[in-house]
Amino acid sequence: MPLLAAQALERALSVLVPALDIVEGRVDDDTPPAWCEARGWTGFLLSLSDDDLARCESAGLSACIGDLAGAPPSLTELALAAAEAARLPRHAALPLAPPADQLQSVPARKRLQLESLLGAVAPMAARARRIVDVGAGRGHFTRIAAESFDVDALGIEREPARVSAAAALAEGTRALFVASDALREDLAFAPDDLLVGLHACGELGDRMVLSAANAPCDLVLVSCCLQKIGGPARAPLSQVGARAGLVLRREALGLTNLTARPVGVESSLEDMLSARGHRHALLRLLRARGLDVSPGEEMRGINRRRARFGLGELAARALSLRGMAPATEAEIREHERAAHLAFSRMRRLSLPRSMLARLTEVAVVLDRAAALEERGHEAQAAIVFDPDVSPRNIAILARAPVTRAMAP
Ligand SMILES: C[S@@+](CC[C@H](N)C(=O)[O-])C[C@H]1O[C@@H](n2cnc3c(N)ncnc32)[C@H](O)[C@@H]1O
Repeated sequence: MPLLAAQALERALSVLVPALDIVEGRVDDDTPPAWCEARGWTGFLLSLSDDDLARCESAGLSACIGDLAGAPPSLTELALAAAEAARLPRHAALPLAPPADQLQSVPARKRLQLESLLGAVAPMAARARRIVDVGAGRGHFTRIAAESFDVDALGIEREPARVSAAAALAEGTRALFVASDALREDLAFAPDDLLVGLHACGELGDRMVLSAANAPCDLVLVSCCLQKIGGPARAPLSQVGARAGLVLRREALGLTNLTARPVGVESSLEDMLSARGHRHALLRLLRARGLDVSPGEEMRGINRRRARFGLGELAARALSLRGMAPATEAEIREHERAAHLAFSRMRRLSLPRSMLARLTEVAVVLDRAAALEERGHEAQAAIVFDPDVSPRNIAILARAPVTRAMAP
């Protein structure tokens, strides 16, 4: 018997809430954070070998802690509890593959996402008068769902260029698109609408949950980029979340984008770590020049991909953007060396926080599902894609209570 969303949320929160100081305490320099010192974990983490560190970063601390000699019992206990509480069932629906000609313009990974999602939404699509796809992008899901289920579909998308592309691809189908910011408009839906968001960013997901609760209508939502919120923090939507004090600041929500895996979906773990090391070196260099720069701000105005090319390239760009003299060779060498040492400590100290990333993501998703359940929906959170297809792979599938407007 699957857990109700509220029960699964309570289980997740029983582990997460006592560890919220870790989630909220990002490791920004090589000083051991207060949460680490208070729990007596610093010595163990800093003594990890390079090989063990690489293994933990790749597979996650929870997966490796059983083989690490000298792991503090409280860290082991939290690691195992976090992995257990973050576990969600795999959605049972078979993928639904649309005809090849409908997929011509769709990138390979997106095709796999679409097939899984189409399979998962099929029972709800069968009872919908209209599918509304919020944050539709180039409208692949909207268009193919309209074709597959022979139903009217509306794609709502903020970027006009994507709306034009989506409309062109959908010519002759039952899919229509509007350019609209779903966070600014009053979103009102009918009980026989099916609301879908495939990787609906941050706050947009919360808005969709509240709209589906109000209509009330069915909802299928795959969340992503939870940190994209207008305010400084996300307040819980469910009573269970509110009672437990599940308020997460933007920075803590950003943790949920992190996924431990041997090879990144877009770049290898090694490349990603080396880019992060270069960014840390840049931060040190700018601070040494007397600038008051908070972590993350060092890359302002610079494409994040440039961090791959090393400190020389980054410093040239960052200093020129600030109207400052270019860095000397000696300056670059000094900050590269200091950053290398500091970053190696930071990577070790960051392991406990990273191990809470998935649990934090799961808690937010379950908070959304529980909010719908509290308002009469039958709501389930389940994994709909393999992590290689997309690490943001948790869907809420929520069936609205049957209202008089819908009853036959
Ligand atoms: C990650 S993309 C996903 C696109 C599409 N659903 C897919 O899976 O290919 C998120 C999309 O949501 C759109 N979006 C973000 N905020 C929005 C808002 N407030 N209103 C409408 N669209 C929004 C973005 O422009 C972007 O196209």
